[in-house]
Amino acid sequence: MSSPVSGAIGTPRVRVDAEQKVAGHAPYAMEHEVAEPAYVFVVGARIARGRVSEIDTAAAVADPDVLTVLTHENAPRLASDEDKELWILQSPEVGYRGQIVAAVIAASSEAARHGAEALEITYEAEEHEAELDPDGELYKPETVNPELPTDTEVGDFGAAWAAAPVKVERTYTTPMEHNNPMEPHASTAAWDGGGITIYDSTQGVHPTRATIAETFGIDLDDVRVIAPYVGGGFGSKGTAHSNVIVACMAAKALAGRPVRFSVTRQQMFAFTGYRTPTIQRIRLGAEPDGKLTAISHDAIEQTARIKEFAEQTAVPSRMMYAAPHRRTSHRLAELDVPVPSWMRAPGECPGMFAPEVAMDELAIECGIDPVELRIRNEPEVEPESGLPFSSRNLVACLREGAERFGWAERDPEPRARREGDWLYGTGVASSTYPVHRMPGTSARITRTADGYLVEIGAADIGTGAWTVLGQIAADALGADVDEVEVQIGDTLRPKASVAGGSSGTATWGTAIVRTAEKLRSEHGDEPAEGTSAEAEAEENEDDEKFAMHAFGAQFAEVKVNAYTGEIRIPRMVGIFAAGRIVNPRTARSQFIGAMTMGIGMALMEESVLDPRSGHVVTHDLAEYHVPTNADIQSIEVDWIAEEDKHVNPMGTKGIGEIGIVGAAAAIANAAFHATGLRIRDLPITSDKLLR
Ligand code: MOS
Repeated sequence: MSSPVSGAIGTPRVRVDAEQKVAGHAPYAMEHEVAEPAYVFVVGARIARGRVSEIDTAAAVADPDVLTVLTHENAPRLASDEDKELWILQSPEVGYRGQIVAAVIAASSEAARHGAEALEITYEAEEHEAELDPDGELYKPETVNPELPTDTEVGDFGAAWAAAPVKVERTYTTPMEHNNPMEPHASTAAWDGGGITIYDSTQGVHPTRATIAETFGIDLDDVRVIAPYVGGGFGSKGTAHSNVIVACMAAKALAGRPVRFSVTRQQMFAFTGYRTPTIQRIRLGAEPDGKLTAISHDAIEQTARIKEFAEQTAVPSRMMYAAPHRRTSHRLAELDVPVPSWMRAPGECPGMFAPEVAMDELAIECGIDPVELRIRNEPEVEPESGLPFSSRNLVACLREGAERFGWAERDPEPRARREGDWLYGTGVASSTYPVHRMPGTSARITRTADGYLVEIGAADIGTGAWTVLGQIAADALGADVDEVEVQIGDTLRPKASVAGGSSGTATWGTAIVRTAEKLRSEHGDEPAEGTSAEAEAEENEDDEKFAMHAFGAQFAEVKVNAYTGEIRIPRMVGIFAAGRIVNPRTARSQFIGAMTMGIGMALMEESVLDPRSGHVVTHDLAEYHVPTNADIQSIEVDWIAEEDKHVNPMGTKGIGEIGIVGAAAAIANAAFHATGLRIRDLPITSDKLLR
C-alpha cells in the first residue's frame, strides 16, 4: 500500500454492496435480528379535523397475542411539542385524515393488524378544509425552504412587463405526489433502561437520533440509530415522520422487548410526507428576438395547519435566465391535510416545470428554436444576486444534448410527423439544482494492519455512498481503493449530515478529505498501525462569493396515439454539468433513475385527495402509477467534463436530484410538438391528449 495510487475518483467502481444486495443478505430495517420481536400496527384518523371522543380497546386486548394498545390516553409522554407532526398520541386532537390515533402492539404482525381492526374509535368531527383553492385564503410565509426569501423583486417588473413587445402569461399546475421507495418506512427498536437502539430506514442516522432525543427528552448518547442499507427515500425519509416516534413509544412501552414497525404502502400516502400541489403563474416578457426583459413566477401551494412546510417553488426563476426585471412570490393555503415534505428536488422539480414549458411557448411566439432561445438568455452572472457562477455549463449541455439527440433534423412545426396511428414530437427543457454542503459533519480515519478504516455516520439510500466514499478516501490518503474500508450508517460513527439536498457526497467527502489531510500532516504518509485522526468539514467560504449550481439539458421524444391519446416516451437524452463525477457507473444510474422518475411525474404520478374526507384515495401502486420497465425505453445520459475549484475539495456537485428537474417539461413540450395540444397541468394523461 506504500505506492500512492491515486485516481480512484472518476473510475466506474462496482458497488461494494452489490453482491450483498443481490443475494438478499443486506439487512433492511425490519430484518435485523433481535430476540422475540413484537409488532406494531397503527390506525389513522377517519376524520380530517376534530378529536377522538372515545377509543374502546376491549375487543382488541381480549386477544392474548395483543400486548398493549397505545392511545392518547396511555402512550408515553413526549418532552417536546415543537414539531406538531411528531406530537403523536398526546392529545385527542386530530389535525388531518390518517394521522396516527392508536397503535396496537402484538406478538405477531397478524395479531397487531387484527387488533387494530377490533378497535372501536369514535370521533367528534369539525368542519375541515382540504382543497387547494387559489381563490381561497392564502398567506405569505416568513421564508421558504431552506430559509430563502419568500418574495423577491429586481428592477421594475410591472413597467417592463407592460412595455414588453412579446408576452407569454400562463398558469401551470402540478399535483400532489407521493414518494414510493421500495422499502417502506420501517423500524426495529428496543428500549433498554434509559435509552433506545433503533434500526431505522432513514436518510440520516444522526439527524434521526437528534429528533428522537429531543422529542423524548433524553440524551443524545442514549439514542443509537443504525441504518446500514436503505431501500430508497427520495426525501420521504429525510426527516423523521410520526412512524419513528410511534416505534420508539412502542419500544418504551414494552420496556426491553424489541418491536418491529413497518408502515404499509397505503399508510405511506397518509403520514410520511408528500410533494405539495402547485399552481404557478408565469409571465415572460421579451423582445421579438427572444431576449427576456421581464420574468415573473408566482407560486401557490399548500401546507398543513399543524405544521408549516413552505416549498421554494419559484426559486429557480431567480437564477436561471438573464432578464433585467423580475419578480417571484410564494403563497400558501393552510389546510387540514398531512404535512407536505421533501420529494426529489423539492422546489426545483415542480418549479422548473412551469417556466420551462413557458419558455417553449415563448419560443413559438417568437419563432425561435427553443434551444437557441435558452442560449440567447444565458446570464453572465447570477441574475438576482449578481454573483459570478462558480461554473455554469448550461449552454454546453444544450449544445451537446442537441447534437446527441439529433435536434437539427426537427421540423419546428407541431403535428408534422405521423407514422401510422402515432404522432411523434420532440421537446427540450433545461435543468438545474443548487450545490449544497451541510454543516457539522466529521469523519474518522484509522490506519489498520492492511489499510485504512474510514468511519462516518452517513447513510446510503441506494445512491452508492458505501462505494464512492471509499474512492474519495483512497485519493485523499494516496492509497489503493481496495485498502480502504468504509463504515457508515450508525450513530457510533462520527456525526454526519442527512443524505438530502444532493449534499451527501459533497459534505461527507469534504470531511473525509480533511481527515485524511490531518492524518497525513500529523503522522506522515505512512502512519503507524492504530494511528487515527478525526476532522470536521469546514463551511465553504466561497459560498458568499460565488453562485453554485449544477445544470443540465433534457431532450425527449414522445409518441401519441392519434385515436386513443396513449402517450409513450421512446427516447430521452439527458446531458448534465455537475462538477467532477466520482463514479460514472453509480452516477449514470442516479441520472437514469431520476429521469425515470421524471417520466412518472410527466405521465402518471398524481395523488388524488378527496376534499370531502381529506383522504388520499389513490393510496396504492394500483391507483398511483409509477413507471415500470415496460414504460421506459431509451434513456441516454452523459455529462460535460466540468472543473469547479469552488464547490468543495473534490470539485463535485450533487447528482441525486438534478436528473428529475426539467424532465416533465421536456416531455410536455414534446407532447405539444407531437399533437399541437399544450398540456399545462400534470400529469399528461391520455384524456388530456384527446381534447
Ligand atoms: Mo432529497 S428530497 O433532498 O432528500
